[in-house]
Amino acid sequence: MDFSLTDEQLALQETARRFAEEKIKPVAAEYDQSGEFPHEIMKEAWELGLSCLSIPSEYDGVGLGLLDSCLIVEELAWGCSGMATSIMANDLGLTPILAGGSEEQKKEWLGRLANTQKFEQIAFCLSEPNAGSDVAGLQLLAEKDGDDYILNGTKCWITNGGVAELYTVFATLDRSSRHKGICAFVMPSDLPGITPGKKEDKMGQRASDTRVIHFDNVRVPASQRLGEEGKGFKIAMQTLDTTRPSIGALACGIARRALDESLAYAAERKAFGFPISGFQAVQFMLADMAKDLEAARLLTHQSAWMIDQGMRASKFSSFAKCFSTDAAMKITVDAVQVFGGNGYTKEYPVEKLMRDAKLMQIYEGTNQIQRLVIARELLKE
Ligand code: CAA
Repeated sequence: MDFSLTDEQLALQETARRFAEEKIKPVAAEYDQSGEFPHEIMKEAWELGLSCLSIPSEYDGVGLGLLDSCLIVEELAWGCSGMATSIMANDLGLTPILAGGSEEQKKEWLGRLANTQKFEQIAFCLSEPNAGSDVAGLQLLAEKDGDDYILNGTKCWITNGGVAELYTVFATLDRSSRHKGICAFVMPSDLPGITPGKKEDKMGQRASDTRVIHFDNVRVPASQRLGEEGKGFKIAMQTLDTTRPSIGALACGIARRALDESLAYAAERKAFGFPISGFQAVQFMLADMAKDLEAARLLTHQSAWMIDQGMRASKFSSFAKCFSTDAAMKITVDAVQVFGGNGYTKEYPVEKLMRDAKLMQIYEGTNQIQRLVIARELLKE
């Protein structure tokens, strides 16, 4: 078993690391406070080839594997996980096209995202006010009208909802038929009848744009349906299986930053006449942080590798998402503890990391849902 990275992977990691250090980190606190969307940084990331990573080269994309993407995502999240989420949400948004789209649809819609002249983003519209964990219970209605569908309803918690030019949207043909009635669509976000609501004022990851989206008699041609009628639920599940390792990588980025900050602070800060890094009480916290981060990264890389091999990885994707995000939460809470009172102020970076980490246990399926997926897979084996 070879855990080493290839020269290409090391180069990708280095590019992303430099971008995070030079472009993201210096402005992360400012965007966290203002809650503004960092348009310029998103565009620069895209120009550098650090966004829409999973578009295959035959559709003019960078065509990276998931393990390669995870290496990049960890670096970006080290700089700011709100910005990393905004960048990575493009891959979440475009994966339904890869999973369910026809050749023609892939050429058209992935081509738009990969177009080197024009920066575009795509948002994944699945969750609803009354259907977050329960995807099969979604209510956004798609009624057939000739060769079109008319969509009515509301999506919520949509990352990049107010800034994306394209959406992948999940709607039901019949609210009583649960997962069997769900269809996936791809569409421009400026269709008549689509209205993004106000940006959510979130606890953490405040640089990412999260919104409600209203669909009021939105007409979508059948040619923009991804896959057959009723296949939308499976497309959503396949998408989440594929993207959850990236959430593991995001969590590793937050956790690594918390460890880096804690090590530096513990070496400097003195108590009882000595640097606090000399006390076992602090050393044990640092040791646990490092150990849990390493285990989180291994699970993340393993699940990404399985997906790159074409293996079904529902259980391992959920292992990675659940373990890494729980680890990031604990590591960031401990980082605040290492910093003591200073850690609880906005003068120091660790309180942001703690707020940012909390969302990771919630989005892309709560960690309770991950445990449910794991248990179901175990019981099937
Ligand atoms: N791959 C392929 N097919 C799958 C599948 C998978 N991973 N999981 C389930 N299926 C199939 C089942 O085999 C079943 O098929 P049949 O009809 O042929 O039997 C069908 O789908 C229904 O499956 P279940 O009975 O297991 O479905 P369920 O209603 O019990 O729900 C669930 C399963 C795991 C709870 C699912 O609803 C789920 O994952 N919920 C969490 C949703 C989520 O993660 N949302 C995140 C939104 S995106 C976001 O937050 C990102 C962001 O903005 C940054």
